[in-house]
Amino acid sequence: MPQSDYTFGDSDLAARRLELLGSTFQDTTRDFLRAAAPNEPALAVDLGSGTGHTTVLLRETLHPTLTIAVDFSPAYVEQTRERAGEDGVEAIEADVLNLPERIGGAEVIFVRMLLTHLREPLAAVALWRERLAPGGVLLLEEVESIATEELALARYLELQEEMLHANDNTLKIGTELDAALRDDPGLRSSEVVEFSPPAATAARMFGMNFTTWRERPEVTDAHAPEELDTIAKGLGRVATAPEDAAPITWRMRQIVLGSY
Ligand SMILES: C[S@@+](CC[C@H](N)C(=O)[O-])C[C@H]1O[C@@H](n2cnc3c(N)ncnc32)[C@H](O)[C@@H]1O
Repeated sequence: MPQSDYTFGDSDLAARRLELLGSTFQDTTRDFLRAAAPNEPALAVDLGSGTGHTTVLLRETLHPTLTIAVDFSPAYVEQTRERAGEDGVEAIEADVLNLPERIGGAEVIFVRMLLTHLREPLAAVALWRERLAPGGVLLLEEVESIATEELALARYLELQEEMLHANDNTLKIGTELDAALRDDPGLRSSEVVEFSPPAATAARMFGMNFTTWRERPEVTDAHAPEELDTIAKGLGRVATAPEDAAPITWRMRQIVLGSY
């Protein structure tokens, strides 16, 4: 697994964060799938499927004949197999930028929170569209913005954005995608949905992720251990005693693209 491309890793802790993310974001994603994808497609594909939360959501919402999940982490592919079973689901270990030939003619390709981590997101979108069936749809769901006045959450987000930027990745990729695809003849829709989970849930997700990447050199070169400890403590405080915490709001960009 080329870890350098994916800064959040696939440790047990990273997997637990994806579990929490999966349950937190499932309602907005389910609504998106219901509104934008055909029911009972022959083939639906989940790219960058993580631990398989989105794969199961795809299967249970759309009832495809076959659902293929793709991730380059062997651990995540295994966890997806365990979660989804083998009835109508295949989990494949592969790079989303080099998909096996057999992933083609898909009626639905779904991508959530992956383009943030790719260095050339638009080139990836172009590659994936080639794998659609005529009339098929590529559904993209990525972060447009995350707003909060809670200091620990805001400080974490600043550092995360900085760390991703140092790796040529973009946290708030939604605006960029929308601007680049606005005049695309295959664009069917590009909308933003707002979503405000409990601040404590956000703090737990952020705390797990922070542990995963805070020792990366691009972070420790720029920030003293005391500063990083202060952020970790602040996240812990919001996670365990959230009564006074300011709210946090995600704006998710949801884009539907047709085949060429
Ligand atoms: C932030 S997670 C999102 C997981 C899932 N889509 C969700 O929303 O819960 C991004 C996933 O993409 C995978 N990933 C990142 N770059 C990849 C690549 N080039 N090829 C395959 N998988 C990749 C990571 O291993 C990780 O599981």
